[in-house]
Amino acid sequence: MTSTHRVRIQGSDTPFEVADDQSVLDAVLRAGEWLPHSCTQGTCGTCKVRVLDGQVAHNDSPEYTLTPAERCAGLALGCLATPCSDLVVEPLGTASDDGAPRHPLRDFDGTVVALDDIATDTRRLVVELDEPMSFNAGQYAELQIPGTGLGRQYSMANPPSEPKRLEFHVKRTVGGRATDGWIFSALSVGERVELRGPLGQFHLVREQSEPAILIGGGTGLAPLKSIARHVLDHGLVPELYLYHGGRRRDDLYDVDFFRDLEAERGNFHYRPVLSEEQWDGSTGMVTDAVVEDFRSCKGLSAYLCGPPAMIEAGVRALKRRRMAPRLIFREEFTVAAPVATTAAS
Ligand code: FES
Repeated sequence: MTSTHRVRIQGSDTPFEVADDQSVLDAVLRAGEWLPHSCTQGTCGTCKVRVLDGQVAHNDSPEYTLTPAERCAGLALGCLATPCSDLVVEPLGTASDDGAPRHPLRDFDGTVVALDDIATDTRRLVVELDEPMSFNAGQYAELQIPGTGLGRQYSMANPPSEPKRLEFHVKRTVGGRATDGWIFSALSVGERVELRGPLGQFHLVREQSEPAILIGGGTGLAPLKSIARHVLDHGLVPELYLYHGGRRRDDLYDVDFFRDLEAERGNFHYRPVLSEEQWDGSTGMVTDAVVEDFRSCKGLSAYLCGPPAMIEAGVRALKRRRMAPRLIFREEFTVAAPVATTAAS
C-alpha cells in the first residue's frame, strides 16, 4: 500500500505530499514548485538536491550521475529518489532567471488524430488532449507506453497557443519499445494515449534584443519548430535563423512549411542542410553552414537540439564565432531522453 510523506524545499514555507513510490521531482513539479531538471531519467544530473533532513531511496540512480561520494554527502537525484520519510531538500542546480512561466506537471489523456510518415524512419504523431496543457515553447512531454509502466520523452513541435493539439516528431529506434514496439507498429489513429507534461527547461520565451539561431539535427527540429512559431507569432526576436540538418533528402521534413514561413515573415531565415547527398540546397555539416553565414556571433543567442556530436560541433563553432557560452542553449537527444543545458554548464 502506498503511503505519503511531506517534503519541503529549503527556503519555501509550503510542504507538499509525496507518495513513497513517487520521485521527489515529480512531486515538486506537480505542486507547482520548481526544481531545475532536464532528462528526468537520471542521466544529466541537473536535478541534484541535497537532502537536509530525512532519508530517500536512490533507486536506479547511476553512479556516473550520482557518485558514491555524493550519496555519502547526502546528495540525491530528484528525478529518481523517492522518500522514505518526511524530507527537506535543497536544489543544487541554479534556477533559470529568464522569467519563463512555470507550468505544473500534470497527467493527460488524449486521442491520436494523426500519425504520418514524414521522413526516413520518422513519424509525426498528433494527439488531441481532453484538457489543454500549458507549456513553454521547447518543453517536452512523456508518453506512456501501454502495458509497460514506461514512458518516453518527445518535445512538443506545436506552439503553446495550441495547447490541446500536441505534435510530436518520433524517430524510430531499431527494437525500441516505444517506436518498433508501439508507435511504428501497434499505434493507430483513434487510439487513446496517456502522457504527463510539461517537462524540461529548454525554451525561448522572453523578448530579446539579440537575433537567435536555431540549429536542429533530425527530429531535434521538433522543439525548434515550437520555438520558431512562438517567437515569430509574438515578435520576441528581431531576426530568427533556423538550420536543419539531415544526411539525405529523405531525412528532411517540413521543408515546405518553413519555406512558406520564410516567404511570409521578413525576419525568418531557413536553411536545410544535407551532409551526405548533393541537391539543389546546402550540403555539408549543418554547423559549418552556420559558420559560413556568420562572421561573428557576438551578441547573438543559439538554441541547439539533436544528437550529442552535432551539439558539440555546434557549440565549438559558435564559440569560435565569439558567441557567449551563457547564450548557447542546447538539448541533447540521448537514447533515453532529451537533456537540456547551457554551454556554460
Ligand atoms: Fe534528473 Fe536529469 S538526472 S533530470
